Amino acid sequence: MAKLTTNDLNVRGQRVFVRVDYNVPMEEKDGRMVIDDLTRIKETRPTLDLLVEKGARIILAAHLGRPKGQREPSLSLRPVAAALAELIHRPVAFVDDCLGEKVEKTVGALKDGDLLLLENLRFHPGEEANDPVFADQLARLADAYVNDAFGAAHRAHASTEGVPRIVGRRGGKCAAGLLMERELKFLGEELENPARPFVVILGGAKVSDKIKVIDRLLEKADALLIGGAMAYTFKLARGFKTGRSLVETDKVEMARLAEAKSQKRGVTFLLPTDHIVADPVDTGQRDKKGRPIFEFRNPRVNAQPDIPDEAEGLDIGPETIRRYGEIIGGARTILWNGPMGMFEDKRFAGGTNAIARAVVEATQKHGAKSIIGGGDSVKALNLAGLGHQVTFMSTGGGASLEFLEGAELPGVVSLSDK
Ligand code: 3PG
Ligand code: MG
Repeated sequence: MAKLTTNDLNVRGQRVFVRVDYNVPMEEKDGRMVIDDLTRIKETRPTLDLLVEKGARIILAAHLGRPKGQREPSLSLRPVAAALAELIHRPVAFVDDCLGEKVEKTVGALKDGDLLLLENLRFHPGEEANDPVFADQLARLADAYVNDAFGAAHRAHASTEGVPRIVGRRGGKCAAGLLMERELKFLGEELENPARPFVVILGGAKVSDKIKVIDRLLEKADALLIGGAMAYTFKLARGFKTGRSLVETDKVEMARLAEAKSQKRGVTFLLPTDHIVADPVDTGQRDKKGRPIFEFRNPRVNAQPDIPDEAEGLDIGPETIRRYGEIIGGARTILWNGPMGMFEDKRFAGGTNAIARAVVEATQKHGAKSIIGGGDSVKALNLAGLGHQVTFMSTGGGASLEFLEGAELPGVVSLSDK
């Protein structure tokens, strides 16, 4: 790795500002906020253990949700401090702000190996604006900087870009955390020269979200298996009927070009040949964003590639599962990003679960390297109870996608070179 990592640091007695991604799913239960999934917290443990061992005075900083520069009690990181303390069997101090007198006093009292978690950075507008004054106030707390927040590394915010720039300018070291290092290794280096066949499975709702990734991966992959609602836009481009399925009519040309490119490069490009469909019925209700809520009636297998006018495609069908499964079974390297259907509804989770099992089997039985590109595919894999049977699961959502697209991440660029 071209950047300094935590292993390279000599930080005994130093104050180290550690940016982590503790943007974890939470929900209110009996008037308190509880954490639904601890993965992102757990995954920072190796970095924290190493820094404790090195005798650093650890100042953890993170964001939670999108409070837009306002104090929002339900988005406090206090419950995260408690969860972290329990997880690492050490006290974790908490201050209800990320800067100011109280923070400075608490930081001043830290001893070697102590941990402090600051309050949600996004309670201040300066965080997302990457305001230099705000960044300077944070940077003043620290002698060195570690970024272990891969999931937020695509953001050029004060804590991911401004602070390391200031610390670096002052001569302080800015290093990648161990999780950050692993993410960059698996989503980056490992896919540069993958063992072949290299099979990429892509799903999710929109072609527009994935087109840059598709474009990039077509340079490397041997096969591209498409699922999720974005498959319908590709099918429309091939001239099939898609009924009431979700399609991006303005992205049909984009889809056509992507498929043409795959043909030119000799990449196997597969679309679902059968589907689970249902009849969408408007319930008259609206979701939080004011969009109509549909109910799906009469789920059934649609065994032909065309989808009838009244039906919506919501998952891949059994024949597609079989074909995709065969290709996955022969893969040496697998990258999966995005579910195959509307997996939040059990009736449409079969395709995603079957693909998850195929990926796990290829990993466990045939020694394939399987890399799960974060977001919904990780959620689906965990729901299926298969999370720890793949080679690597990314903790990033948007960050993984941008990194796979080949973008330079501001949170990585700003770290010190080796
Ligand atoms: C995420 O969960 O995607 C990261 O923590 C970044 O959060 P954001 O999308 O609100 O910037
Ligand atoms: Mg995001």
